[in-house]
Amino acid sequence: MGRVGRRVAAAAFCIWDAFVIEGRAVNPNAAKSVPLSNDHLLAQLHWRYATKKFDAQKKIPAATWRTLEEALVLSPSSFGLQPWKFFVVENADFRKQLQAASWGQTQIVDASHLVVFAVKQDLGASDVDRLFDAMVKQRGADRAQLEGYRQMMLGFVANVPFGITTQEWSARQVYIAMGQFLASAAMLGVDTCPIEGLDPAAYDRILSLPQKGYRTLCASAAGYRASDDRHANLAKVRYSHGEIIEHI
Ligand SMILES: Cc1cc2nc3c(=O)[nH]c(=O)nc-3n(C[C@H](O)[C@H](O)[C@H](O)COP(=O)(O)O)c2cc1C
Repeated sequence: MGRVGRRVAAAAFCIWDAFVIEGRAVNPNAAKSVPLSNDHLLAQLHWRYATKKFDAQKKIPAATWRTLEEALVLSPSSFGLQPWKFFVVENADFRKQLQAASWGQTQIVDASHLVVFAVKQDLGASDVDRLFDAMVKQRGADRAQLEGYRQMMLGFVANVPFGITTQEWSARQVYIAMGQFLASAAMLGVDTCPIEGLDPAAYDRILSLPQKGYRTLCASAAGYRASDDRHANLAKVRYSHGEIIEHI
C-alpha cells in the first residue's frame, strides 16, 4: 500500500464510528432475528451442492424467488457502495444463447431461474454521490456532517489502497453477493449452481450489459435438482477442519 493509500485507509477507519452512528431513521426489521439452530444451518449447507442437472419442470414459487431477490439486495459491500447489478434472465432465447457461451452447461436453460452477477464499470464520484444521497434520504443522515466521510470515500474509490484496481475491488464485492445468494437459497431448500464457466464478453454482448454500465463476472442457476442428478449424493470433498481453520 502506498503513502496516499495508507493515508486514505487511516482516514477511513478513523471516521468509521462517527459515520455508523449518524442518522435518525432506524431499521424496523432490526429486532426481528429468528436464528436457525446449529443443526438446521449445517443440514442445509450439507444439502447444498453445485447442481449439475435441474428439473426443467419445477419452478421456484414467486414468493420464494422474491425472497431470494431480497437476499441479493441485502448483500453487504464495502462502504455499502453496492457496485453491482443482478440480471435475472427470463427470456428463453437469451438463455439459449447464454448456454452456448457457457460450455453448453444445461443448468443455464433447465433451471427455473438464472441470475447474472455483473460489476459496475468505472466506479467513481457519481457512485459515491448516489450512495451519499441514499444515506441522507433513507437514514435521515445530516448531509453537512457526512461531508468528511464523502470526501474520504471519493479518495478511496479514486485510489483503492490494497494494491488492486478499483474494478477488481468492485468485483470482490460481487462475489460476496453471490455467496449470500447461494447460502440463502440453500436455507430455503432451493438448489443452485454457481457458474464461472462462461465467456463474460459473450454474456455482455448478448445481454447488452456494457451499454447499461456493467460487466459480467459470473452467474448462478437456481431451481430444483433433477431426481437423477448423480452429483446430489456424492461425498463432499473438503480439506479437514484442522487444515482450513487455524486458531492463533
Ligand atoms: C466461483 C465459482 C464458479 C463455479 N463455476 C462452476 C461452473 O461453471 N459449472 C459448474 O458445474 N460448477 C461450478 N462451480 C461449482 C464448484 O465446482 C463446486 O462448488 C465445488 O466443486 C464444490 O462442490 P459443491 O459446491 O457441490 O460442494 C463453481 C463454483 C464457484 C464458487
